[in-house]
Amino acid sequence: MTFKGNLTLIFSLGLNLDHEIIATMKSAYWYVSMLVVAFVYVYLTAIQYVRGFQVDMNYHKYVDMTNVLFNLNRAYPNLTSIYSIGKSVKSTRWLQLIAYRDLWVIVVSKYPHHHVKGLPNVKYVANMHGNEAVGRELLLQLAAYLVTNYPQDDYVRHLMDNTRIHLMPSMNPDGFEAAIEGNCQGTVGRGNARGFDLNRNFPDLFKENRKEEQLETKSVRDWLSKIQFVLSANLHGGALVANYPYDNSPTSLFAAFSSSPNLTPDHDVFKHLAEVYSFSHAIMFRGVPCMRNSQVFPNGTTNGAAWYPLTGGMQDYNYVWNGCMEITLELSCCKYPSAAELTSFWNDNKKSLLVFLGEVHRGVKGFVTDEYGNPLEGAEMKVEGRDIGFKTTKMGEFWRILLPGTYVMQVVADGFEIKKQAFVVADPQPVWLNLTLFRPSSAAVRPGDFDLINAGAGSSLFRTPEFAPLMGPPPPPPPQLQPQSASLLRNFQVGFRRMFGWMG
Ligand SMILES: *[C@@H]1O[C@H](CO)[C@@H](O)[C@H](O)[C@H]1NC(C)=O
Ligand SMILES: *[C@@H]1O[C@H](CO)[C@@H](O)[C@H](O)[C@H]1NC(C)=O
Ligand SMILES: *[C@@H]1O[C@H](CO)[C@@H](O)[C@H](O)[C@H]1NC(C)=O
Repeated sequence: MTFKGNLTLIFSLGLNLDHEIIATMKSAYWYVSMLVVAFVYVYLTAIQYVRGFQVDMNYHKYVDMTNVLFNLNRAYPNLTSIYSIGKSVKSTRWLQLIAYRDLWVIVVSKYPHHHVKGLPNVKYVANMHGNEAVGRELLLQLAAYLVTNYPQDDYVRHLMDNTRIHLMPSMNPDGFEAAIEGNCQGTVGRGNARGFDLNRNFPDLFKENRKEEQLETKSVRDWLSKIQFVLSANLHGGALVANYPYDNSPTSLFAAFSSSPNLTPDHDVFKHLAEVYSFSHAIMFRGVPCMRNSQVFPNGTTNGAAWYPLTGGMQDYNYVWNGCMEITLELSCCKYPSAAELTSFWNDNKKSLLVFLGEVHRGVKGFVTDEYGNPLEGAEMKVEGRDIGFKTTKMGEFWRILLPGTYVMQVVADGFEIKKQAFVVADPQPVWLNLTLFRPSSAAVRPGDFDLINAGAGSSLFRTPEFAPLMGPPPPPPPQLQPQSASLLRNFQVGFRRMFGWMG
């Protein structure tokens, strides 16, 4: 029986059947169909909601990865946001105009859309070497895991309520497109579209880096200058180890034959961070070498320079120039293992990836203000005895990861007296340290401060520097100060030179 016949049958029972009514009923039928479709859609969405957003355990090329990120964002608009820090570089200028790929970042947090005063920012960056692919997929899994477990997992909720987590699944999307699944070694896809190794492309503390700066590197450096990241890891492949700074050393020419460690003033913290990752990992802490004759890493950690020194690495740059503690994670012996192995990589790394980020809530945090409570931006800070400094943000915030102990914080800002403040760090909460700086009044000058204040008046040394190292090669050394300068001043001078890469 046809549709029209059906209607005729029903409506011939006393109803005045005309074309208008048939049209109405046709459209009612249409509405019912739409209702069924909508119901199925809602049902499927509900299933997805109950099961949680799932990212398939597979490699995602650029277009698929972009879709995953945007689908995640659509499904969890209140827990995620997406931004691009820039574009990848192409081999020619013309391709650059049409075929670029974005360097996507997804923020996962209770506060994904804007910075919240006092909340630290942390990041993971993966796939900087395009053929080291596992980290790229782990970060997609991690993003989905965080948002789907937010309601029921106390640790995840605590992390997301108190931290802004920035995940960049691919810093080298062009390299990844060229890389080949199953290639465990080799360099196809390692560099960007112009063949540059991005982990040799940053300014270096120990050696002049003459490599032409790539767009990906510049985008990352701009990113780091805009957001004060406190903790970070850079996900690689080709070994199984958590590697901490420094990656380079002043003697790397000789060290190429017998590598020796080059430790940072924050060695205790970096070793701890690397061990947190390694000990939370399913197997990394065992330190079993990838191949019979490859290097053994006790506890699954190593100092970068002790393994092999390299110039222009990203982790040293994060630490020295941006006050961000970054380590480099080598997550798979095979650089680009088969997709069938991704589930086991995720299971091995899930806990480590979560626990490591929690380490940002350790040490000291606070605000630097003037005597009227106005935040001081760009105040130079360092923990006494640790000559790599860091700076306050626009809101006067600072964070520094420290192990339990007693410390002295030093702060200096243009036009203010130097401040020194002792404090105690005890596990597990970070200690609050709010510091107020005062403008020197000529009547209140104490003898010990005199040189400093005089030096501050006209000397470039005490002018709040811009992010000079970000814009190009390190600036020239500052003019020599009088030999009679107080030792405190000398200490600061050494600290400042290190901080800005002026090696004396
Ligand atoms: C997101 O937050 C807004 C405002 O709090 C709320 O109205 C909306 O329902 C939330 N959306 C989701 C998908 O949770
Ligand atoms: C390995 O870890 C253990 C436990 O923390 C520590 O006692 C030991 O010193 C570490 N070994 C190395 C070589 O770092
Ligand atoms: C430090 O200052 C912040 C912001 O003004 C405030 O929220 C916090 O409670 C202060 N902490 C202490 C220990 O004074």
